[in-house]
Amino acid sequence: MKTLITGGTVVNATGTAQADVLLDGDTIAAVLAPGSTLLGFDVAGNVDEVVDATGKYVIPGGIDAHTHMEMPFGGTFASDTFETGTRAAAHGGTTSIIDFVVQYAGENILDQYQLWHEKAAGNCAIDYGFHQILSDVQDSSLTAMDELINEGVTSFKLFMAYKGVFLSDDGQIVKAMQKGAQNGALMMMHAENGSVIDLLVQQHIARGETTPFYHGVSRPWQAEEEATHRAIMLANLTGAPLYIVHVSAKEALAQITQARDTGQNVFAETCPQYLYLSLEDQLGASSAEWGDFEGAKWVCSTPLRSKHEGHQHHMWQGLRTNDLQVISTDHCPFCMKGQKDMGLGDFSKIPNGIGSVEHRMDLIYQGVVMGEITLPRWVELTSTTPARMFGVYGKKGVIQPGADADVVIYDPNGHTSIGIGEGRTHHMNMDYSAWEGYEIDGHVDTVFSRGRKIVDDNTYLGRKGDGAYFKRGLSQYLI
Ligand code: URP
Ligand code: ZN
Ligand code: ZN
Repeated sequence: MKTLITGGTVVNATGTAQADVLLDGDTIAAVLAPGSTLLGFDVAGNVDEVVDATGKYVIPGGIDAHTHMEMPFGGTFASDTFETGTRAAAHGGTTSIIDFVVQYAGENILDQYQLWHEKAAGNCAIDYGFHQILSDVQDSSLTAMDELINEGVTSFKLFMAYKGVFLSDDGQIVKAMQKGAQNGALMMMHAENGSVIDLLVQQHIARGETTPFYHGVSRPWQAEEEATHRAIMLANLTGAPLYIVHVSAKEALAQITQARDTGQNVFAETCPQYLYLSLEDQLGASSAEWGDFEGAKWVCSTPLRSKHEGHQHHMWQGLRTNDLQVISTDHCPFCMKGQKDMGLGDFSKIPNGIGSVEHRMDLIYQGVVMGEITLPRWVELTSTTPARMFGVYGKKGVIQPGADADVVIYDPNGHTSIGIGEGRTHHMNMDYSAWEGYEIDGHVDTVFSRGRKIVDDNTYLGRKGDGAYFKRGLSQYLI
């Protein structure tokens, strides 16, 4: 199958150009001056389909490097399966995800890795890779890390929070980081001080402060800053490259910036929720159905931060200065009915997570509309750098000959209504939207995944199982 995308503006991280893009089978065959002929042939006359992208952007498919499809967590499972979550991602212009294989204490990481393959294989609409969560840093896990790197799992997430669930103590973290320093794996960190948070949670509950708002209050920025600093110091001690996930506090970002300024290999991501949503939104949230439990819709960790403290402004700034390099979603959806409502009367029992895999490209495009970031930076943060960071650049994250034909045609004059209310339908398996009522500029028109048109004008044309596992190399930011 040959497809020629004509008349569009190709946007790569390096800049924009008027160009036609020829897709041949799985790959991008050529990026051509508009209306080109090749070896005397009229290119348009030699293809199966010509897609007119006049007035639109032609961008590399989005890469969401932080998702949790059907994750067992908080006494339940994240509500999107690999099937529903990747289909929703496709609708939003994301053509690759990197999901986290979960290991709880006592479990064998290689068994868990196989289990994740069983969950994903034959179900995904788009291509996928895996990171591995390490919970109790067993000696066998350390040896298995080498094996996993050969399998294309080159990044490992540790947690400084969720005691008794995921938390690793500093000694365990150092052990895992020593291994990362040796084999080149990127060590990812959930940086929040779990002991402090557990104490504050108990104190709020004891005082009868049980509504979702207290989730955020009990996870203050100091707990994020302290853990971020500690993670950086432990990485410094061991020489391991470090990637801090879901950064929300400006003080944590300052720690990252300082470490980067000294030349340490510290990288970080933020997520759409930390750019647009705030603790005050959560406090003020109320509905006829849920009363003040409405705020449970936005319970995630790290939590939403106070808008009066300037965190959002600093996140945008960090994205411009490259102290934050990646925007992922941390897609971890739960329904209100039967899942989030486990925390009625006790916020600590609300499963933590927000679902956004479908909306990341649109939401971050608003940064271009608002003048916070440039068009190429939008592509860099959502596709090119995730590809480089996680070892798939060249195949993914760029419109260039030889790359996988993961291509999105994005209409800057289009409009997107987000949510599940009247006239809106999202595709994530959630009974609410954290972004209900967002009316935004821009629209994902057409999505190609390795040359196959899988979304056209809001219609899904793909099939479950189209997506394939990709083995990743080591981070391309490391030498
Ligand atoms: O609230 C969140 N972030 N849930 C998913 C687990 C994690 O820490 O990433
Ligand atoms: Zn986390
Ligand atoms: Zn996560």
